[in-house]
Amino acid sequence: MTVEAWAPFAEGKDGIFTNPVLHEIGEKYSKSNGQVILRWLLQRGIIVIPKSVHDTRQKENIDVFDFELSDDDMKKIAGLDKNVSQFFDHHDPTTIEQIFGSSLKKLRR
Ligand SMILES: NC(=O)c1ccc[n+]([C@@H]2O[C@H](COP(=O)([O-])OP(=O)(O)OC[C@H]3O[C@@H](n4cnc5c(N)ncnc54)[C@H](OP(=O)(O)O)[C@@H]3O)[C@@H](O)[C@H]2O)c1
Repeated sequence: MTVEAWAPFAEGKDGIFTNPVLHEIGEKYSKSNGQVILRWLLQRGIIVIPKSVHDTRQKENIDVFDFELSDDDMKKIAGLDKNVSQFFDHHDPTTIEQIFGSSLKKLRR
């Protein structure tokens, strides 16, 4: 089984494209926050399907295979984890029921 990012840029939430830690890391490699994010996911073996309606961003998003984040970079990015989902709580049974309720009912039959 391979893990895929739900939304590799967290749908742009929480100022992810202007995050100063990601910016500082990106500057070392002449890469954008988005490229640092994709690299961080890829180096952890996570599948990414970033979405953009802009040609320039699509090109930017695929241009992530000519640099490698260091262990120190990886640690700094991991340190940004607030341990709070940007979307919903996957551990809350009520939320799971709301989202997957009809599928779960079919499985229970
Ligand atoms: N999030 C979900 O709930 C969900 C669920 C199932 C499937 N998916 C699929 O997963 C894929 C990705 O998810 P997503 O679109 O929700 O979120 P995402 O890829 O995390 O974020 C997309 C957002 O990032 C912006 N963006 C993309 N590249 C950028 C860049 N280089 N610089 C600055 N902004 C950039 C996009 O704006 P612009 O388009 O304006 O560039 C858009 O607002 C999509 O194909 C989606 O269909 C998502």
